[in-house]
Amino acid sequence: MIEGDGIGPEIAQSVKDIFAAAKAPIKWESVDVTPQLKDSRTVIPDKAIDSVRTNFVALKGPLATPIGKGHVSLNLTLRRTFNLFANVRPCKSIAGYKTPYDNVDTVLIRENTEGEYSGIEHVVVDGVVQSIKLITKEASERVLRFAFQYAEDVGRRKVRAVHKATIMKMSDGLFLNTAREISKDFPTIDFDAELLDNTCLKIVTNPEPYNDKVLVMPNLYGDILSDMCAGLIGGLGLTPSGNIGDECSIFEAVHGSAPDIAGKSLANPTALLLSSIMMLQHMGLNEHADKIQSAIFATLAEGKALTGDLGGKAKTHEYTSAIIQHL
Ligand code: NAI
Repeated sequence: MIEGDGIGPEIAQSVKDIFAAAKAPIKWESVDVTPQLKDSRTVIPDKAIDSVRTNFVALKGPLATPIGKGHVSLNLTLRRTFNLFANVRPCKSIAGYKTPYDNVDTVLIRENTEGEYSGIEHVVVDGVVQSIKLITKEASERVLRFAFQYAEDVGRRKVRAVHKATIMKMSDGLFLNTAREISKDFPTIDFDAELLDNTCLKIVTNPEPYNDKVLVMPNLYGDILSDMCAGLIGGLGLTPSGNIGDECSIFEAVHGSAPDIAGKSLANPTALLLSSIMMLQHMGLNEHADKIQSAIFATLAEGKALTGDLGGKAKTHEYTSAIIQHL
């Protein structure tokens, strides 16, 4: 358990209390990932790295990234340290929280290690900067293979690659061609592709046709499109995610540390809770996952103990208690 900064400890406590009440067989090992200076480089403490490596899974609260020069995002560092190549973002409408659409059920998988976020940038001459989008067959193949496998595991019939290969013919072209190749290994899953701009237009017009698909795409597109999907179900406070690697996986809420409400018991723990449910499913503890998820959804649908961001007046611990009552 990486509790994280700001509201992190409050929402982590909510997860711990609910897991204890549900008798989920999880023994938490808390680690601190406050960066340390090692050989004049900022690194994650060895104890935290060892803990994630030994346990294979981690649940992570938000980590604050100071603004300014020289601060590498700790979230990025964690993804790189453990080579968490796929970011899984499901977005499902929540009964009791009214949004323009009440039938959203999208799953988006984002390549998490390269593309536009490779960090290869330089000044060509004064006033001209070049930023390189790196796409490799190896990274494309592993995220695409994961997407097909995921679709098979969760019973979705289609995988759709989202791209701009019409413009970025070589880089997105490689991603798309790799997708076509990988699709042959999964004959029970339908494969097609769609241009990113078209996907954006169609999802916000009518999300329902996306409910039977897994969308998979390069890094930047996935970053933006996943937040757009989160908007369709009521925002980042309700959206979980999983960062999946070959060895370890880290599950996290997609929102930040919310310094404006930290320490006031105003935080909504739902996103971290739903991330912890993804963790349980990843570990094969589906019975516990279903039980806790039903209690969360029942509490939200009842609408009596909602936190401020959802229009209610409940404190974090009151919302937590209501979920425990439902358990
Ligand atoms: P933020 O997501 O922390 O906050 C944006 C707004 O949403 C705030 O008004 C906040 O009060 C509200 N909010 C967020 N989570 C909430 C929750 N669970 N319950 C109720 N309200 C919630 O984004 P912001 O302010 O841009 O970033 C703050 C810090 O978090 C920064 O240092 C940033 O780098 C870091 N961050 C970390 C992330 C991570 O660890 N995955 C992701 C995004 C930001």
